Amino acid sequence: MVDIAVVGAGTMGAGIAESAASAGLEVVMADVAEEALERGRKAIEKNLDRRVNRGRIAEAEKGEILGRISASTSLEDCAGAPLVVEAVIEDLEVKKKVFTDLENVVGEDAVLATNTSSLSVASIAASARHPERVVGMHFFNPAPVMKLVEVVSGSFTDVSAVRRAEETAERLGKTPIRVSDTPGFIVNRVARPFYLEALRMAESGVEPARIDTAMRDAGFRMGPLQLADLIGMDVNLAVSESIFERYYYQPRFRPSVLQRSMVEAGLLGRKSGRGFYNYSAEGHGDAESSEEPSADISLRIISCIVNEAFFALSEGVATAEDIDKAMKLGANYPRGPFEWVEEIGASTILETLDSLRSTHGEAYLAAPSLRESAASA
Ligand SMILES: NC(=O)c1ccc[n+]([C@@H]2O[C@H](COP(=O)([O-])OP(=O)(O)OC[C@H]3O[C@@H](n4cnc5c(N)ncnc54)[C@H](O)[C@@H]3O)[C@@H](O)[C@H]2O)c1
Repeated sequence: MVDIAVVGAGTMGAGIAESAASAGLEVVMADVAEEALERGRKAIEKNLDRRVNRGRIAEAEKGEILGRISASTSLEDCAGAPLVVEAVIEDLEVKKKVFTDLENVVGEDAVLATNTSSLSVASIAASARHPERVVGMHFFNPAPVMKLVEVVSGSFTDVSAVRRAEETAERLGKTPIRVSDTPGFIVNRVARPFYLEALRMAESGVEPARIDTAMRDAGFRMGPLQLADLIGMDVNLAVSESIFERYYYQPRFRPSVLQRSMVEAGLLGRKSGRGFYNYSAEGHGDAESSEEPSADISLRIISCIVNEAFFALSEGVATAEDIDKAMKLGANYPRGPFEWVEEIGASTILETLDSLRSTHGEAYLAAPSLRESAASA
């Protein structure tokens, strides 16, 4: 019996398969490429070895987990799965084809989920024969570690598909959060200002290490520029560009000219040896600041994050409580945006944005609901 099928054995597909098998589910992992399945399986084995070495699981359990994952180059092997998670490359046409092919093999009651980060669930569902069973299940990288799953309800999605996705996420030990089918869902959208505002400051001459130190002092595990170096400058820029485009070029989301020049110069971060920091043997990726960190830096970045959370809330993307939970679980934030409002005060956040808007323009336009919240506080 198959409990879940995962299509695509790349970074995410293999991670989702590992999470499911670790939770005791029988998994089919399918991919077009035999080598991808081999790589996926090796990646899972390596992760499990790490868990064995850290004493988290016994050697025997590793074997059991691996034994619950069967690999296949044929979608037909997904036939018996009550839920299939698609995690193939981020290409609408490829995804649509996977869904139509899946519909030819799975049972009538099967739910089909997509792990897309930047496409709309409705656009993927549109060409399906039964679009009502197509739902988004947006996992985070690394999937075996990250607890959040954004469960995305598209225009066609039936509530029964949403429930199946939520139940499955819970069986995997994850926290599902319902979000509407809007660009970037919650986490990739509300986290944009974390990078963009830091990049704007770096563009205006603030030392990168000073920005990162200020954010670490504010409780973040990593500074935004350090994290952009880790994610890869090209990957981070591509997400920003996609969100900017999909929100019809609202100034808040304008990507950074500095970041684009860095990508063009090959300064991609850790993977290229240099980004904001130098990762060569001499550089050690040293992220210490020579200047005093400043609370103004973190207030500025946090104010922009809170503003975006208010926009998302008033557009009905998710509840305030879920936005807070999503940012803590999906982005490792020390607090949720609305918890910061409690701590810092809506009026301080609004004043910060209004003052930046008067000097720097519309990127700092405050959400009307934030203004109301400040007025009623
Ligand atoms: N990498 C991340 O951090 C991340 C996080 C959340 C969501 N996502 C989303 O997850 C999806 C997968 O991303 P990834 O980073 O794992 O990509 P990846 O490139 O690592 O893996 C994609 C896999 O899909 C396979 N594939 C391509 N066409 C296929 C087809 N027709 N049928 C079956 N398999 C096919 C490829 O062989 C490859 O193994 C994308 O939609 C991405 O946006 C990625």
